[in-house]
Formats: sequence, C-alpha cells, structure tokens
Amino acid sequence: NKGKYEHYMQKEIHEQPESLTTTMRGRLLLGGTSKAKGVLLGGLKDHLKKIRRSRRIVFIGCGTSYNAALAARSLVEELSGIPVTMEIASDLVDRQGPIYREDTVVFVSQSGETADTLQALDYALENDALCVGITNTVGSAIARRTHCGVHINAGCEIGVASTKAYTSQIVVMVMLALAIGDDTISSKVRREAIIDGLFDLPSKAKEVLKLDQEMEDLAQLLIAEQSLLVFGRGYNYATALEGALKVKEVALMHSEGILAGEMKHGPLALVDETLPIVVIATRDTCFSKQQSVIQQLHARKGRLIVMCTEGDAESVCAGGSCRVIEVPQVEDCLQPVINVIPLQLLAYHLTVLRGYNVDQPRNLAKSVTTQ
Ligand code: UD1
Ligand code: BG6
Repeated sequence: NKGKYEHYMQKEIHEQPESLTTTMRGRLLLGGTSKAKGVLLGGLKDHLKKIRRSRRIVFIGCGTSYNAALAARSLVEELSGIPVTMEIASDLVDRQGPIYREDTVVFVSQSGETADTLQALDYALENDALCVGITNTVGSAIARRTHCGVHINAGCEIGVASTKAYTSQIVVMVMLALAIGDDTISSKVRREAIIDGLFDLPSKAKEVLKLDQEMEDLAQLLIAEQSLLVFGRGYNYATALEGALKVKEVALMHSEGILAGEMKHGPLALVDETLPIVVIATRDTCFSKQQSVIQQLHARKGRLIVMCTEGDAESVCAGGSCRVIEVPQVEDCLQPVINVIPLQLLAYHLTVLRGYNVDQPRNLAKSVTTQ
C-alpha cells in the first residue's frame, strides 16, 4: 500500500524517520542516575565475548548493503580496535580469499537471500569463522545460516532500489560498534555522544526530508545530463558510492562515486564547465581537505553542487559559484544516514522526470537469487 505516495521508493524514502525509530526500538539504553548509556542487541549478546576476541572483522555484502557496511567501517575500528576489512561477496568467492577461524565475518543483506552473499557465507562457514548476519528479513537464508545476528526491523521494502534499509543497516552497524567496543573511561564521552545522536536521528531525518522540493528543482536542472560524479571521503565515501548507485540504478544515468582523496590521480581529468559534480563537504575531520578539493574544482571551472552543514553555504563556496545542499549536522559517524537522503530524493525525482520506472528499474531485481 503506497498510501499518499505515487511510488514505493518515494514512500520508503519519506518513511525513514519511522523506520529508523523501529530499528532502534528496545535497543538503546538511555541511561539514568545510576545506569550507563549503552546498546542492547539481543541477537548478539551471547556472542560478544567471542567477537571481541577476533583478530579481524570482515564485512561482506553486495550493492547497497556493501555501501552500508563501508559507512560503518571506521567506527567499528575506532570503538573495537579490531581491523575491519571489506569484501564484495562475489569477489571474495572469485579469489577464494583467506578467511580464518579467528575472524568474525558479518554478512549484510537486506533480503537475506542474495546468492553471492550466501555463497560467501557457505565459504566462511567452511573456514570456521564466526558468521554474523545483518538482515531485514526474519527467516531468510542468511538469518538462518549465520551463527547469530541482528534484524534491522526497517519494515518491508518494495522499491528495488534500497533506501530505508540502507539507513537502518548503518544504524545497526553503529549499534554493533557500540556493542563490541569496550566501555572504557576514555571512550565514554564519544560513546554517549553517539547514543544521544542515535536518539535524535529520526528527527534529523525528518528535517532533511524537507529538502524534497529543492531536490526536485535540482533534478530538473540535471534531467538531460549524461553523467554525474559524486565526491566524498571519510565517513561519506560510502555516501558518494551509494548516491551514485541510486542515480545509476533508477535514473539510468551514468554516475560514479569517487573517493575525493583520489581526485588528483585520474578523475580530475574529467572536470570541465559542463559535467555536474556533487561534493560532500559536511563538517567532520575531513572538512578542510574537502574545502581544498572544492577550491581545486573551482580553479578548473567545475560545475559544483556542494553538500554542506547548515550555515556553511557561503564559506564553502567562496572562490567560485556553486549550488548548495545544506543538511543538519549530526555526530560524524551518523552523518552518512542524513547525507544520503537528499541523494535518494535526487535519484527519485530524476527518474520520475526522465520518465523511467522508479520501483522496478529495467534489468534489475530486488533480490538476486542466481549467480
Ligand atoms: C527478538 C525478537 C523480537 C522481540 C525481542 C524482544 C525475533 C525475530 N526477534 O529481537 O521480536 O521483540 O527479541 O527481546 O523473534 N539472527 C541470526 N542471523 C541474522 C539475524 C538474526 O542468527 O542474520 C538471530 C539472532 O542472533 C537472534 C535472533 O535471530 O537469536 C533474533 O534476532 P533479532 O530479531 O535481531 O533479536 P532481538 O532484537 O533480540
Ligand atoms: C540487488 C538489488 O542487486 O541486490 C540491490 O537490486 C541490492 O538494490 C543488492 O543492494 C543486494 O541485496 P541484499 O538483499 O543482499 O541487500
């Protein structure tokens, strides 16, 4: 039931304040006079000791699910001190990469039925790793075959392009990082800030959804373009990949997410006055580096659309002209949840304006159960 919406993708984008709330329901401990703030992931509580002892954590997924894991990678490393490596499921299987019994392997899959991810799961099970599932589908193959896991509880997602499942997957992995990480005195302030940030996240998602009309206007400007680049780094490299994936899969426009740190090593050659480029430059430790990326793009007369923190519009574009998308600021590791929403809206409006099928893009399936 689409309710007041024209398409499922549109409904699911706008549902994110609610889906994020249900993902966190019963899992955030907000503390009190004598109790510490924390998270409770029922599906992991008996396995946390073993996870904390692992030599390495490996995140495995395909498409949007891979991007969600990438968004959470550095927080898991920061809070647990355990190195995290990223694997696209098919690539791990293709090269039969090393997986050890001391590894915790986390399988991220909205449907829980993706054939590539399942094959990687069989491979990790054969190698005796601890296998953890993160899925939206209770009773799915991944939920059944993993040793333990977390249901993201985002509610049924019908649009082939994943939106609300993506943001809920990130939130679950942020909670996973908090659950594995030691509750040390030195990390207390950081952990509490993240928990407060999670608590506020649905209302920030609601705020950023107000950009809907602005994103439709931007889509109108970009309607006839051949290509769109998206530059991000740090926590928002994943946002660049995911924003570009959305534009590619539904709007059928070439789009590429690029790690801004790699700009000088190739992509800069593409920059001219015509190619539209989104630069994600919200406030975090990478902000000054992104400012210098913007300067370099200005110097080459790049056609820029800058996503920045509310209040930064003027300063971020000093030195050239650009269009700005201002988003509310949240804790750095949660910013990808907020930043992806305008890009989801942009992909949605571009698709509708270009006259393509939003909910069932050509050649794609919601769940790819064959290899
Ligand atoms: C569970 C209940 C939830 C109830 C809550 C009350 C289920 C599905 N969930 O939620 O309805 O409100 O207790 O405390 O009955 N698992 C895997 N692999 C996966 C995902 C999950 O093995 O990929 C396992 C978990 O380890 C766990 C079980 O499935 O044993 C349920 O996981 P989850 O729904 O996340 O647990 P709770 O949040 O505790
Ligand atoms: C398909 C979908 O390719 O599978 C993508 O079209 C999705 O949207 C990918 O990201 C992975 O799916 P899942 O269910 O494993 O998260």
